[in-house]
Amino acid sequence: MRHFLTLEDITTDELTTLLDRADEHRRDRKMRETLKHQTVVILLEKASTRTRLSFEVGAYELGARPSTLISAHTQLGRGEPIEDTAKMLSGYAHAVVYRTFGHERVTKMAEASSIPVINALTDEYHPCQLLADMQTIRAEFGRLEGLRVAWIGDGNNMAHSWMLAAARGGFSLAIASPEGYDVDANILAKARALGAEIHLTRDPREAASGADVVTTDVWASMGQEEEQAIREKAFDGFIVDDALMRDAKSESIFLHCLPAHRGEEVSASVMDSAQSRVWAEAENRLHAQKALLELLAGGL
Ligand code: CP
Ligand code: NVA
Repeated sequence: MRHFLTLEDITTDELTTLLDRADEHRRDRKMRETLKHQTVVILLEKASTRTRLSFEVGAYELGARPSTLISAHTQLGRGEPIEDTAKMLSGYAHAVVYRTFGHERVTKMAEASSIPVINALTDEYHPCQLLADMQTIRAEFGRLEGLRVAWIGDGNNMAHSWMLAAARGGFSLAIASPEGYDVDANILAKARALGAEIHLTRDPREAASGADVVTTDVWASMGQEEEQAIREKAFDGFIVDDALMRDAKSESIFLHCLPAHRGEEVSASVMDSAQSRVWAEAENRLHAQKALLELLAGGL
C-alpha cells in the first residue's frame, strides 16, 4: 500500500507531476470526481485549522466524503491500539490523514493499514506543508532547482521536512538554529544522502544572505507549550524582521506554515509585507493535498 509519511515516499518526478496537478487545481477549482464515493478519514491528536479544513474541502471537491475524528473523542484517545484502529479504518474508508505526536505512531498506522495513510504532521515531519510550500515557490520563481532557501529557527518538524524537500526539489537550504535546537542528526544525514545541499549555521544573517526564500516557524511547537519562556530566551535574535530580509535577495519571498506569532519568530512588518506569500502558501495546502489524494487514492 502506498503511503505518504515523509517526502522520501515520492520521487522527484512524482513531485513534479503532483505540483503540476496542484497548479491545475489552483487554476480551475471545479468539482471533480477522481475520488467519487470514497471516504477520507482525518484523525487528529493535535490541534489543526489549515490541515483539517484543506483536507475536508479538498476531499469534498474530489467527490469524496471527509470524516474528521478528534482523537480525544475516539477510542484511540482512550487507549485502543493504533494497529486495531488502522485495521478498523481500513474496512470503512479509502484514505486516512493522521496528525499525531511521535512519528512512530503514523508509521504504526501505515504498517497496519490496507488503505493509504497520509502524515498530517508528527513531532518529526510535516510533509504536506512542504508540498504547498514548493508549489508556492514554483509559482513565484518558475522552478525549485538551484534556488536558495533560508530556514531561521527551530530544528523542528518543519525544518526536517524542508531538508527532505531540498533533496527532492533540488534547492539548497541554509539552516540557522540556536545551540540546543539543531535539526536531528539522523534526518540531516538521510537528507544529505538523498542529495540535499544543506548548510548549518548559528547566524541567521549568514543563512539569509542571498536567499530566494526566507522561512521560519514558531519557537515552541505543539506539545512544547511549557517550554515557551525558555525558548523565547534561546531564540533571542532569531526573529525574521526587515533587517534580516534585507540580507536576502531583493526579490526574495517570505514563507511561514502558520500559525505565526508576530513579534516572536517574525515581525508583523515581514509577515504582512509585499514579500510575504503566506496566504498563497496556506491556500496551496488545498490544491497540493487534492493532488496528493489523487496520487494515493485516485489514480493520478
Ligand atoms: N500549517 C498547518 O499545518 O496548520 P494547522 O496546524 O492549522 O493545520
Ligand atoms: N512546528 C509546528 C508546526 C505547526 C503547523 C508544530 O508542530 O506545532
